[in-house]
Amino acid sequence: MRFYENPEKTSEGRLEGRSYYIPEGISRKQDLNGVWDFLFFPDSDIAEYDAVKEWDKIPVPSCWQMHGYEEPDYFNINFPHPCDMPYVPDVNPMGVYRRKFNWSNDTMKCYLVLEGASSCARIFLNGVYVGFTTGNHLQSEFDITDKVKSGENSLLIEVYKWACTSYLEDQDCLRLNGLFRDVYLLARPTGHLRDFNITSDSDTFTVTADTDCTLTVTDRDKVIFKGELSGEVKVSVEHPVLWNDEKPYLYNFTFEKNGEIIRRRAGLRTIGTDAEGRLLINGVSVKLRGVNHHDTSPTGGWTMTYEETVKDLKLMKELNINCIRTSHYPPMPYFLDLCDEMGFYVVLETDLETHGFIRRYASQSYRYDICDEWPAGNGAWKNEFISRMARAYERDKYHCSIIMWSTGNESAHGENHYEMIKWIKARDNIRLVHCEDACRAGIDGRSDVFSWMYPSLGDLESFAKEKSVPVFLCEYAHAMGNGPGGIWDYWELINNTPRTIGGCVWEWADHVAYKDGVPCYGGDFGDVTHDENFCCDGMVFHDRTLKSGSIEVKAAYAPFRIKYENGKVTVKNLFAFTDFSECEIRYSVVCDGKIISESKISLTAKPGEQDKIPVPKDLKCEYGAFCRVTLTRPSGENAGTLECEIPYTSAKKNTQIFPPCELREDKRYIYASGDGFSYRFDKHFGGFDSITVAGEEKLSGVVHVNVFRAVIDNERGIKHRWLNLDNWSGENLDCLFNKVYEINANNGRISMRGSLAGVSRMPLMHYTLDYTIDVNGRVNVKLHGDIGEKVFFLPRVGVDFPMLRKNKEFTYYGKGPGECYSDMQACALTGVYNSDADREYVPYVRPQEHGNHIGCKWLEIGGLRFEGDFEANISRYTPNEIQNAEHVNELPDPSLTYLRIDFKNSGLGSNSCGPELPDKYKFDEKTVDFTFDFFQPIYLLFPSVVIYLNGKNTTKEVTNNG
Ligand code: GAL
Ligand code: MG
Repeated sequence: MRFYENPEKTSEGRLEGRSYYIPEGISRKQDLNGVWDFLFFPDSDIAEYDAVKEWDKIPVPSCWQMHGYEEPDYFNINFPHPCDMPYVPDVNPMGVYRRKFNWSNDTMKCYLVLEGASSCARIFLNGVYVGFTTGNHLQSEFDITDKVKSGENSLLIEVYKWACTSYLEDQDCLRLNGLFRDVYLLARPTGHLRDFNITSDSDTFTVTADTDCTLTVTDRDKVIFKGELSGEVKVSVEHPVLWNDEKPYLYNFTFEKNGEIIRRRAGLRTIGTDAEGRLLINGVSVKLRGVNHHDTSPTGGWTMTYEETVKDLKLMKELNINCIRTSHYPPMPYFLDLCDEMGFYVVLETDLETHGFIRRYASQSYRYDICDEWPAGNGAWKNEFISRMARAYERDKYHCSIIMWSTGNESAHGENHYEMIKWIKARDNIRLVHCEDACRAGIDGRSDVFSWMYPSLGDLESFAKEKSVPVFLCEYAHAMGNGPGGIWDYWELINNTPRTIGGCVWEWADHVAYKDGVPCYGGDFGDVTHDENFCCDGMVFHDRTLKSGSIEVKAAYAPFRIKYENGKVTVKNLFAFTDFSECEIRYSVVCDGKIISESKISLTAKPGEQDKIPVPKDLKCEYGAFCRVTLTRPSGENAGTLECEIPYTSAKKNTQIFPPCELREDKRYIYASGDGFSYRFDKHFGGFDSITVAGEEKLSGVVHVNVFRAVIDNERGIKHRWLNLDNWSGENLDCLFNKVYEINANNGRISMRGSLAGVSRMPLMHYTLDYTIDVNGRVNVKLHGDIGEKVFFLPRVGVDFPMLRKNKEFTYYGKGPGECYSDMQACALTGVYNSDADREYVPYVRPQEHGNHIGCKWLEIGGLRFEGDFEANISRYTPNEIQNAEHVNELPDPSLTYLRIDFKNSGLGSNSCGPELPDKYKFDEKTVDFTFDFFQPIYLLFPSVVIYLNGKNTTKEVTNNG
């Protein structure tokens, strides 16, 4: 057995955990970050480095895979090695780190701190063994006072890729190694304080320390306590200002001992639950608008810079997020300082996941039961489990942002978990405790909340009615690729049900590593077994650019709701601690996409209450009237804009009826032409293959009916029904045939009867498609489709116009400006937008369907105007080009502008991991009746045109307003 293969001895020489701080005064921090000597050995057992003269260089902190030593592995559930606990492969790679440092004061004590080392670090100072540590994301500290010497010292750290503790570190992420967080020394006076804690209720801090010291507590500049701290002190605050996510207020604490100063900040807050299962912060019901946060950077891997971290947290604030589950391990220590300061509720998870054991029950699959084959039920692991809870708790215990401890993720549940819970409850009776798998098995008594992953809305609804413990969705809304859909619906339920206390979107950002500038995922790294792009499931992209899903989360998490009722728009305050009177609120009325009035309004509703705003009467518009409300938080952050439809009287002009266009026909084609237009219909392919307006060709292919769109990640559960994946169950929508049964041309109308079928499949739809063309070139399109009874719901149905690439600019009335779908539409507002096919492209890491706009009433593109009720999608790629690309660089050079005028698209859902798409978002109608018009908007093209009135030929000036 190798030294790192013993679950009962997972460290040596490591000090007990303590509260995190960087001491000041006469103490100093000596940074060991920077460039280190480095050697990588594929097999640590036979590594010889003593004689090596030329060492490589590597930055610390970093992950060695991000610097060219091995490639990352990506695994979700499986271990990257056999599941032969506690043993790891004999061929165990190792990185050896070496650097020199100067030590100038030999009267001070010297500590070495590693904030994160993956997976096992064995330390030598000046050739003398110091100790070893495991626990990737848990801080380790060594007292090296008796080994450090004045002057130059040589520090060497062997970092082993795997240790037995790797069985507890099976989190779903790129698997990376190295000294990936800060490394530093602390020089401290003898007799220094080591540990302290700060807890609070609503007006008193309880401060403890393990050594007598002087404590000063200030409220801004005002000293509210100064005195000796011996054991414990209660500091009561006269006019307490409580901490919460909306108004995070902190007090300053200074501990002084032997010339050393430790400064920390903490807030006053209480945490509780009530009989109804609500979560109470400071006695007030709070909803956790959360997200799961992994440390991930496309350049640094697990190593995130301070700037990257701040950027994440600021973005979260902008997106109305108020809760972070640190999935699935403690973050960098300063992350929590920032959460205290900025106001986030933190579910602090310790570094523990043993998911890979699940696969060991081939016959039973997916069992999370207590079993001694899982580490959770195996006594040899007991101390390590407790120690992981303890190390998380000890480092972070004084942070007011932490409201819940988590024993880890996806590790089944067993005695060792219950021991962790016992341990933490004995130390902390203020915060809640969450044990994910114990809840999954229905053992809610072990946990203060019933935490649940990815329930369907229906299941959540019925469950939330029955049980009394708070229900916390530790993961929901799997934000993989385009999506998530449906999040708004979850929040309608959560906001209106006491015991659903909120949840955390899975997850914050896509995990990738770049290769030649291309974001890559599992399978791109020469890895044989892997989990593909399942790591690209962030609600923001890997580079933290936003997608519509990000804005959808922002809207669902907005601290207000609006609704039209009886001549008024009600605006409901969903804050817990902020009155509307403290916010800036703007209100506007939008008719046909134009803002007709806009003003600041003063609303006064308190949390939970609502204000009413009268809406203008007698609005006349053609396409629709909406009111929009925009709220700015007291802190100046925009909390979003929501819209709701309001009544209007229709000012829609009746489309004039003009005589039919005369059609000409030859063997292959049917021709329709008139002033400024000429269309050609290809009878062989059953669609227009030429549409010429003002002498310019618009098309690059044949107009046709289609139901295919490139599959999105969130269609993981349905795509085998749509694609030819396993050769028998799919409709093969990625290889469709349009069959023409019959075509008739008569009195300006081209009628075709046809079918649509996937290769080697029976037709999924029989349809008739009528094009009725008038003398002005206005075409009315009518699609009637009958979809086969056995056909599963479909991605979409519509009429596709492959256009020439140059027609890429367009203007439309509908929902935008970003992409939106039936179940992801709170991110969009109804208006008139200009865009172009290039701007519509959304660079999902694995290319997939994108760019839809729902609620469209008109669209102008390439001199054509489309009118009707439709969803529109303008892309520089065909659906199959997108489908065929696995990475962004595999998309071809754009060769066309692909226009889809869709009757309906299915929603997005979150079925890459979450529940099936709810029925109401499936396009599963068996009959399709869809109509729209297209024509040349002549008034834009010609100053003077021939207009037919009542069949008579009159000529009239047409201007832009006429
Ligand atoms: C959950 C798990 C997460 C992640 C997610 C899928 O089951 O807790 O870590 O794997 O599924 O992306
Ligand atoms: Mg997992």
